[in-house]
Amino acid sequence: MKEGNMGSLKGKDILHANQFSKKDIEAVMKVASEFEKELKKKGVIPLMKGKLLATLFFEPSTRTRLSFEAAMQRLGGGVIALGPVEGSSVSKGESLADTCRTVAQYTDVIAIRHPKTGSAKEAADAVDIPVINGGDGTGQHPTQALLDVYTIQKEMKTVKNLTVAMVGDLKYGRTVHTLVELLALFNCKFYFVSPGALRMPEEITSHVRQQGASVEETEDLRKAALESDVIYMTRIQKERFQDLAEYEKVKGSYIIDAAFLKNLGKDVTILHPLPRVNEINPDVDSYPGAAYFRQMRNGVFIRMALLAMVMGKK
Ligand code: CP
Repeated sequence: MKEGNMGSLKGKDILHANQFSKKDIEAVMKVASEFEKELKKKGVIPLMKGKLLATLFFEPSTRTRLSFEAAMQRLGGGVIALGPVEGSSVSKGESLADTCRTVAQYTDVIAIRHPKTGSAKEAADAVDIPVINGGDGTGQHPTQALLDVYTIQKEMKTVKNLTVAMVGDLKYGRTVHTLVELLALFNCKFYFVSPGALRMPEEITSHVRQQGASVEETEDLRKAALESDVIYMTRIQKERFQDLAEYEKVKGSYIIDAAFLKNLGKDVTILHPLPRVNEINPDVDSYPGAAYFRQMRNGVFIRMALLAMVMGKK
């Protein structure tokens, strides 16, 4: 990973939750909040005029890729995209490192998503320009986790001392793998709600416990929801299963609908990185605590902040 300057993100890669201190997270949220306020007054904040972002997405994406592209353009910069693999020299067998070395000749910063865990680091090691991880396999999704923390701060007016239920595919879910590490810095307590086959990896559970966080693993969503301030739902990711029979056993394990929330008899904030399949019924969308559409909008402000900070513009 590139080192950059002490106490600043200038020149650094954004690869993993473990690179962030509480102070770093607060600094990113402060810049995102400034951009959010400024964007209400004007459509463009031209800090990145003359700079180019490359988006290299080797896995499907709607929110991450488009919000990165919107963020760069809202900052007055330009974007070039690698596009589908079959339209690039990756289809001729070019390595990830060589693809990134090529792109680094044309652009100033790279946002990458790739199915292989560790691929964002591999990209970052190959080039001198900042690389931002937009999701590496079942590993990490740091920009998502930062926008999740930003959303919690806005919705709950704090991220400290909350109880958060993480629900669904905790085994393969890179969003929860990353978010739990960030929230542990803010003294949050966790319920990990999943079928036995999709439990949070033991090394992550033990790491957040070592950080002092309280973690309870359960299969009982109602019990966890009754105790929680925030429910973070995730999709059971069919594409991560080697054996589809295993997917069939766990799909639809947890579904939140309006009746479930009414029965709960308390207010709760509901987040989801999206896309959803059936784990949040559309009848929840009008529930005041359903924050998942506001959450995806926040992705633009956080990604603007990260782009401006790694380029030394903030
Ligand atoms: N949350 C998220 O990563 O969404 P996309 O897969 O659409 O980018």
